[in-house]
Amino acid sequence: MSHWPAQDPSGKLVAGRTAYLILHNTSEVVTPDSEGREVRRFPKGAIVFREGRVLEVGPAAELFRHHPDARPVNANGKLVTPGLVDCHTHMIFGGHRADELQQQIAGASYAEIAARGGGIRSTVQATANVREEALEKLLANRLERWRANGCTTVEVKSGYGLTPARELRLLELMAGAAIRVPSRVHRTAMLLHALPEEYADRREEYVDDVRDRLLETIQRRGLASGVDVFCDPVGFSVEECRTVLTRALELGFSIRLHAEQTARGGGARLAAELGARSADHLECATEDDWCALGEAGVVGVLLPAAALTLRQRLPEAEMLRRSGARVAIATDFNPGTAPAQSLVECAVLAGRLCGFDANELLLAVTWNAACALGAEHEVGHLNPGAWGDAVQWECESLEELPYWMPAVRPDTVFMRGADLVLPAVERRVWP
Ligand code: NIG
Ligand code: FE
Repeated sequence: MSHWPAQDPSGKLVAGRTAYLILHNTSEVVTPDSEGREVRRFPKGAIVFREGRVLEVGPAAELFRHHPDARPVNANGKLVTPGLVDCHTHMIFGGHRADELQQQIAGASYAEIAARGGGIRSTVQATANVREEALEKLLANRLERWRANGCTTVEVKSGYGLTPARELRLLELMAGAAIRVPSRVHRTAMLLHALPEEYADRREEYVDDVRDRLLETIQRRGLASGVDVFCDPVGFSVEECRTVLTRALELGFSIRLHAEQTARGGGARLAAELGARSADHLECATEDDWCALGEAGVVGVLLPAAALTLRQRLPEAEMLRRSGARVAIATDFNPGTAPAQSLVECAVLAGRLCGFDANELLLAVTWNAACALGAEHEVGHLNPGAWGDAVQWECESLEELPYWMPAVRPDTVFMRGADLVLPAVERRVWP
């Protein structure tokens, strides 16, 4: 039985109970400003939530004066941030590929493993072997783990179905899981991920089928709000990606690309040309690529767990600052390149490896990540009007978030202005 109201395809939640409360006695409240450029910090600050949204944020004394009737909720002297946004995951899959990590360590490349039948196609098989109900529950449990780790908004990509019929089924299961768990789920159809075996030697036909039939079906049935492709020598060419993404845009989807991951091939330029919401990975991107993203307003999404697994370098924060591009950080949770289940851990890694400061890291997992989903008007910050999704952490300052290893844990997760006050203990609801 669902304990969470239904969502529309964009992940918007149906309005909940009315609550009017003030979260006070924080060590500090931190939030991106209303442009998402700077982090605002309110030492001993407070937040007023009403009807699921943020009504006001600021110094506690002032807010108590403005809202004498709000019910007080004590934050016990802890840090409060917006709920985090994990803007890139592939969390609907069966099995795991622990053996591949060992092969990689022994020297095999991602492309070699894929060519010998491992990689994405092996997860497609493992996913097909899980019963549908079990797959839906597996995803629901994962969403619950993310929520317990402080992620109140999560993007989930399909992509381990490959054939049109199996992709549609995964998208349906994603919708089913989303209504079981208190989190905002953004569904993305990952459509050019790998060539399915059923289409071996019929590559062109596959791309045509995706473009001319599958996209329309997904749109008509409201199964996803975004479309993603794997633009890479191991995946699909710039031309193949362009034709599918152009049609996706015509149908009203937002678009994203896995770009410049195993080699530099033009994916970042394509993202800029088409006005994608984000270009993700970018391990092989140049400074010029980043500047193109910056100029086009495309968010660059770093996936430190994937870079670590494939032993690739992450870009220097200094170069990223020069480019002017918005930078987000995500888990990329998937069984091949990123078995990473904590967004904060990923931010901790990126902080150390790239040289981001605590403010930049907060923006990367809140506002900028929300931008990659086109959701910055309502999540990823605690400015008036935003959904009241917030995390009270078991630490006192923003600087501690990228400091501790393993990462700091949430104390309490507030969804929709404490309509739902949830413990940070993971509830494994479904066996
Ligand atoms: O983001 N590169 C494409 N997709 C995933 C990996 C998929 C897999 O190896 O199963 C990624 O790294
Ligand atoms: Fe990915």
